[in-house]
Amino acid sequence: MPKKLFIKTWGCQMNVYDSGRMADVVAPLGYEPGESAEDADLVIFNTCHIREKATEKLFSELGRLKPLQEEKAVAGGRMMIAVAGCVAQAEGEEIHRRAPYVDLVFGPQSYHRLPEMIARASREAGVVLDTDFSVEPKFDQLPQGESKAGVSAFLSIQEGCDKFCAFCVVPYTRGAEYSRSVAAILAEAESLTRRGAREITLLGQNVNAFHGEGQDGQVWGLGRLLRRMAEIPGVKRLRYMTSHPRDVDDELIAAHRDVSQVMPFLHLPAQSGSDSILAAMNRKHTADDYLRLVERLRKARPDLALSTDIIVGFPGETDQDFAATMALVREVGYAQSFSFKYSRRPGTPAAAMPNQIADEVSDARLQELQALLREQQIGFNAAMVGRTVPVLFENEGRQEGQIFGRTSYMQAVRVEASARLIGQEMRVEIEQASLNALAGSLAIHGD
Ligand code: 5AD
Ligand code: SF4
Repeated sequence: MPKKLFIKTWGCQMNVYDSGRMADVVAPLGYEPGESAEDADLVIFNTCHIREKATEKLFSELGRLKPLQEEKAVAGGRMMIAVAGCVAQAEGEEIHRRAPYVDLVFGPQSYHRLPEMIARASREAGVVLDTDFSVEPKFDQLPQGESKAGVSAFLSIQEGCDKFCAFCVVPYTRGAEYSRSVAAILAEAESLTRRGAREITLLGQNVNAFHGEGQDGQVWGLGRLLRRMAEIPGVKRLRYMTSHPRDVDDELIAAHRDVSQVMPFLHLPAQSGSDSILAAMNRKHTADDYLRLVERLRKARPDLALSTDIIVGFPGETDQDFAATMALVREVGYAQSFSFKYSRRPGTPAAAMPNQIADEVSDARLQELQALLREQQIGFNAAMVGRTVPVLFENEGRQEGQIFGRTSYMQAVRVEASARLIGQEMRVEIEQASLNALAGSLAIHGD
């Protein structure tokens, strides 16, 4: 009898990737992924701790699940509830205290031990807690999935971060920077392309800090890895995220210049445009360093577009500091962005800083910033209208007869065309643009 698995994922792409691998790990035990928690034998919440809302959402989801778990027990079955990810890592004990009916609590370094944890939870009463940072690399102990891969797939190449930005929990929840070996990455990439992937996004909390052991015994950086990945048959597009400006080296810039599979789109968080805030954030670069880096990247790849993360309301941020952020955003011009109100994370250096910013001030700044970023994104999308650009088709669209793909800049495009084109890159004439999507039709003549 197959068992029902339900995984709900919050947070970054790394978590999306991890959830997929957790499903792979428990598949040999008979767990099949389903669409809802109802009647599931194992429910996994894969959590994010980067901003506080996720923690509260977790507890409210757990509260909703409790009656379902009880119902299942009354019917003679068992619903095992697991909390994974960064909230589990940071607040394992608290989860057990507030939701004692949770069976498993484990951090991001423990997924490969999931079968063992499930076995223990079935035998023993009480919670199984595993939030140790293991010394053995988890990735290479996870099985390779067998199922069909998406046209656009994720591949985790490094995890953890040693940057210690003053606001961020990642160095504490994901631990020290660790890079996988080139051999393991290539093996996974080959498996993904065999199973249908055409676009691979290399993932890591600080992906361009990558320094994996190469097959030649040397330490490889991300630029070199990208060049090698591009040689894999079937790899049409390569992306990577998230990068730290300090770790962009010449080799990576050269890969953008030379390797056609490396997409001309880069997520490069600026966080702030004010030098004093950047220093307080421990970002290790100034606004000018960032601007000069963007200039070098654009020189290497003139059609490069950028996206960013920005935080407003970091402790001590003055009106002047915020104006510097607005100026930086105006100067760069972003195609896409994520912007956040600073969230005080217990245990981070910024949480103890004086001059925490009042909510109303941060709210107003966020609105002003988002209006500008939205305007830039709309402008960038609108500039695509009338152009004929390559689109990699990923899926069927929401409406019958429509398929959905992405431009090199990650813009979603709807096209009336046959589902047979999924997995192919075709030229599309863009006819319409909005904030979040484009629409167009297949170009008859290439240009
Ligand atoms: N408050 C607000 N935003 C944060 N981020 C990380 N930590 C915090 C925090 N404490 C944002 C950063 C990062 C993105 C993933 O989340 O902008 O780049
Ligand atoms: Fe967090 Fe900074 Fe590391 Fe990014 S670079 S994960 S923001 S500490």
